[in-house]
Amino acid sequence: MRRETLIVSMLMSATLLFVSCKDAQKEAEKTAPREVTSVIEDQGYRPNFHFTPNQNWMNDPNGMFYLDGTYHLFYQHYPNGNTWGPMHWGHATSKDMVKWEHQPIALYPDQHGYIFSGSAVVDKNNTSGLGAAGQVPIVALYTYHNAEGEKQGRNDFQTQGLAYSLDSGKTWVKYKGNPVIKNPGIRDFRDPKVTWDAERSQWVMTLSTYEKSLFYTSKNLIDWTFSSEFGEGIGAHGGVWECPDLLKMKVEGTSEEKWVLIQSLNPGAYNGGSGTQYFVGDFDGKTFHPESYVETLGEKHDFWIDFGKDNYAGVTWNNAPDGRTLFIGWMSNWEYANVVPTETWRSTSTIARELKLLENNGVYRIVSTPVQELSKYVTKSINKGAVEATNGTTLLSVDDLSLSSTVINFEIANLKNIDYKFLLTNAIGDSLVFGYDHPKKQFYIDRSKSGRVDFSEQFASKPSVAPRISTANHLEVSIILDKTSIELFFDDGTTVMSEIFFPKNLFQEFNSITNQPFQIQNLKANQLKL
Ligand code: FRU
Repeated sequence: MRRETLIVSMLMSATLLFVSCKDAQKEAEKTAPREVTSVIEDQGYRPNFHFTPNQNWMNDPNGMFYLDGTYHLFYQHYPNGNTWGPMHWGHATSKDMVKWEHQPIALYPDQHGYIFSGSAVVDKNNTSGLGAAGQVPIVALYTYHNAEGEKQGRNDFQTQGLAYSLDSGKTWVKYKGNPVIKNPGIRDFRDPKVTWDAERSQWVMTLSTYEKSLFYTSKNLIDWTFSSEFGEGIGAHGGVWECPDLLKMKVEGTSEEKWVLIQSLNPGAYNGGSGTQYFVGDFDGKTFHPESYVETLGEKHDFWIDFGKDNYAGVTWNNAPDGRTLFIGWMSNWEYANVVPTETWRSTSTIARELKLLENNGVYRIVSTPVQELSKYVTKSINKGAVEATNGTTLLSVDDLSLSSTVINFEIANLKNIDYKFLLTNAIGDSLVFGYDHPKKQFYIDRSKSGRVDFSEQFASKPSVAPRISTANHLEVSIILDKTSIELFFDDGTTVMSEIFFPKNLFQEFNSITNQPFQIQNLKANQLKL
């Protein structure tokens, strides 16, 4: 071989070697499992952008009100332990219902009992007479739970108490004449939610008892008169009714107004355990009259604020600005809330949601969407446009953006008779499955392989399902993903499913699973950072 030829050929093979080394490296990168970060637990599970207590136990949201640019959130809290215990009201404030600041505990148990769930109102006209010069009183009504009385086997251990604040919710004074409503001999008698009935210039309090909602009215928030009850033979009754909310809502796109009664119950929810149903109708100042179609539904009732297993005891903000109806729930379920695998803190709130009331063929339904304030926190956006989804297509991965602090949106036009299945997964094989089975007209979430599931038999014993209410041939999906939760908003929030999960590593890929490829349109993802 001539010298030049030899040099050329050596150079060529070196280049080839270099190229093939690079290819091999690329190939290896492609096929190598994604790096496994150390197994996560406890603090590692603390959400990126959902509210959690600083430490120890939390359940229901309580007493939410808005005043002078600040949203207040109180919550059932046991500050001395990581399971349910003697209840206090924890407190947090926010400018936008997304980023929360912890505040000192607002209400401590006293001689009347623990401080159970309740509500707070901004008493702008000082109807209570509790205001001081220039200071609007905030009046909280809550349930006293007398644990001693309960132990003694009495029926009258729950009463309603009042506390007020003259410094916009910072500090609270318990009313001297507590309790303001004594127990009439009903075992479950709790969770007062107070609403202003402008038409009749009166306050209306809704309480929950074992299987009913009770309405009381008052002119001054202190003296209450029983007016009526609602619930027998209507709606789901698999358990105890708790945490009601009666509110007036405008029907979207009309000047019509309706009264809506939100009513949680436990157990007996659509997918078992705790859940929140609602009824639409009218309130005449004394009695709630459901729409006639609601009356005929009985146990077949499928009016749920959220069909997932983890949105309980949610209620709306008092005095919300711009006529908005703003809601937040506790993202857990009494079936397993006390044993979810975190230790130093326990429980998360849902993302705050805006509720709207829509009418279609004489049927009124609540639709919910995540509050638009979330968009303030977008730090990265990906627009993948139209994507062909085949079996195992990676639609998004952590190479694009985080999948633990993210909002994903996409659409499917011209629905085919197939099961649209999606999967969130990580390198160690944990996976959360969810989707829409069009032949069954059913949405679902299956968390049976999502990581830590064996802390409770009920946590993942069967997939959760939700009926599709929309009949459109076009599906819109919005997904809110945090480290340990998924909130699915289908058909612009007509059907919602929220669930928690505990993967051993964070999820790294969002994939499609199907034996019939389908088209996804407008696939977009936004990464959030508070
Ligand atoms: C609902 C509930 C309420 C009660 C509170 C006690 O989750 O049981 O009825 O007031 O929790 O923490």
